[in-house]
Amino acid sequence: MCQSPPKITVVGSINMDLITETSRFPSPGETILGLNYTNSPGGKGANQAVAAARLGAEVSFVGCIGADSNGGELKKKLIEEGIDITGIDTSKEKPTGIAQITVSSDDNHIIVVPGANFELTSRWIEMNKELIVNSDIVVLQLEIPLSIVDEVISLAYQHNVPVLLNPAPATQLPESILKKITYFTPNETEFSLITGYIPGNEYKAAFKSLQQKGIQHVILTRGEQGVMFKKGEQLVELPSRKVDVVDTTGAGDAFNGALAYGIASKQPLHQAIEFAIKVSSHAVTKMGAQSGMPTMKEVEEL
Ligand code: RIB
Repeated sequence: MCQSPPKITVVGSINMDLITETSRFPSPGETILGLNYTNSPGGKGANQAVAAARLGAEVSFVGCIGADSNGGELKKKLIEEGIDITGIDTSKEKPTGIAQITVSSDDNHIIVVPGANFELTSRWIEMNKELIVNSDIVVLQLEIPLSIVDEVISLAYQHNVPVLLNPAPATQLPESILKKITYFTPNETEFSLITGYIPGNEYKAAFKSLQQKGIQHVILTRGEQGVMFKKGEQLVELPSRKVDVVDTTGAGDAFNGALAYGIASKQPLHQAIEFAIKVSSHAVTKMGAQSGMPTMKEVEEL
């Protein structure tokens, strides 16, 4: 019997990524010549939606674009991915969000100008309530107003819908939000900011502090060093995979989209994390955030 695909709603950002490739980053005040420039669809929310959709999930995206050509193009891309875009609002006031990205051989720098992403309203969430409460999992990040993140998490919580919050970019979060999160996926910077963890120390106490605040599962992503999460009383470390890295932009988004897919497909957490590591290791072998997201067939062939 064929299982129906998991239903995932992503509430988050959608940006046009303005990508400059360079052999090195300039020092402050210095001008250098870059290697290449492209525009490519991005935004942590939209990237995570595309990652889950390429794996086979039924994905709805809730967000806000501007009434401009970038917005139209980004919407078209999501439609091509088979994503339901009825939850995308259009702001008359602000342009579509952009991200200025500089990529060198092993790292990137990103500046996001949120624009319309910050125009997402409470009224719009209310209008899309049915999508949210009928999902197998709701996925959020922090490139939209925190009040909207809070509202969506509360709505999902009231209806027993699991929430995956990827707390990026790093921001302090109130306990009223933390206590309603099912899956929390900080990277090391976000983990340190939220828990006060000092790099080099033992992780145990910081994990415990988040659990005491009510978060059910903390999954710490550590780039090349893999992923750490708590299984019972045990801290488990899963290694990353060695691949030829082309562009790390969107690696975290690939991980989160795939993790949401695995969880919503009822994989045990350990297995869902291993799957997400596999997907994100594939994503970094290609340039661009959304363009690098693998299909399920590509993941199986790895
Ligand atoms: O995580 C990568 C994403 O962060 C980029 O696509 C950019 O738009 C920013 O939101």
